[in-house]
Amino acid sequence: GHPLYGKEMAEAQILSDAYIAIKDGKILAVGTGQPDPELIDDHTEVKSCEGKVATPGLIDCHTHLVYGGSREHEFAKKLAGVSYLDILAQGGGILSTVRATREASFDNLYDKSERLLDYMLRHGVTTVEAKSGYGLDWETEKRQLDVAALDRDHEIDLVSTFMAAHAIPTEYKGRSQEYLDLIVEQMLPKVKEEKLAEFCDIFCEKGVFTADESRYLLSKAKEMGFKLRIHADEIESIGGVDVAAELESTSAEHLMVITDEGIQKLAKAKVIGNLLPATTFSLMEDTYAPARKMLDAGMAITLTTDSNPGSCPTANLQFAMHLGCFMMRLTPVEILNAVTINAAYSVDRAKTIGSFDVGKQADITIFDAPNLDYLFYFFATNLVTDVYKKGQKVI
Ligand code: NIG
Ligand code: FE
Repeated sequence: GHPLYGKEMAEAQILSDAYIAIKDGKILAVGTGQPDPELIDDHTEVKSCEGKVATPGLIDCHTHLVYGGSREHEFAKKLAGVSYLDILAQGGGILSTVRATREASFDNLYDKSERLLDYMLRHGVTTVEAKSGYGLDWETEKRQLDVAALDRDHEIDLVSTFMAAHAIPTEYKGRSQEYLDLIVEQMLPKVKEEKLAEFCDIFCEKGVFTADESRYLLSKAKEMGFKLRIHADEIESIGGVDVAAELESTSAEHLMVITDEGIQKLAKAKVIGNLLPATTFSLMEDTYAPARKMLDAGMAITLTTDSNPGSCPTANLQFAMHLGCFMMRLTPVEILNAVTINAAYSVDRAKTIGSFDVGKQADITIFDAPNLDYLFYFFATNLVTDVYKKGQKVI
């Protein structure tokens, strides 16, 4: 299988008068009317959701879930027009959350993350990707990754990404190469050995890491067996897209200011575009990623929250979906494919989640809506009424 590319994203099988039969936490059958009685035994559960919409459990494939503190003290600056990169350059922004995260205990980080996951679940999300990157030292990065292993206790499944290259820590100011060497020589081997994360990510941005630095880190990570992601073309276009294409990164994130040439490169290299329209909204910009151009070029895209304390403090994937519709003019089917099957590919879980294919995990989100269009027509309201995880009702 492969993600849905370009025009394929407009395709979906939509059933009315449908049932879903579940056995042992997995999809046994999906169809219209009544299931074949031969399929059904005492261990089979059949759901009918008359008058409602059922989709595969939503997948939020880009979040910065685990962090200390919050940043509402920067909100007034933001409202007054001080830019995100200026706040960071003044030692605020990500670096302010780094200070708070270093000070936070495991239990504090755990409780905060658990609460965020609870919000996400209530909004219909059943799988979440979570990045580290607010420690920028081994001890704290590890604590974040250990917290992200909390899916052992939570209904939501988590996929971890190691992102110590999220900013240059104050103690390494002006010595970014030395910091990258520390990541490559000391942190990455431990993450690998202790199986703390599957993916490696970096913030390729003006004033943060250059394209060459991103290439260096990600190629080392790739050699060590990590799958790759890269925050690229979020605020300035400085070459992160080329790195994503060259290294065949699984995904490239943001892409708000990507060029037409960049889109062609990602399409050709089959890099998934993880788009974060709620970040554009929260940054109070009008640079929504050119999603339609990406589809026209044959790219696969996802929509995801970027949930984090700075550029996008929200836990509601439906809000990103609504912006995908209203600001990017994506259709309901394209959006649902973005947050289910394509997001499953983005987190490398397409064998088990992201669609109602027989045998996949019975992760199901049910909306109080008579049809798909209604999900987008009636906006800014949480329409989720029920969530099933591995066949169990969790909401
Ligand atoms: O994806 N761009 C870099 N990282 C996050 C923001 C993190 C923060 O501001 O705390 C993002 O937007
Ligand atoms: Fe991000």
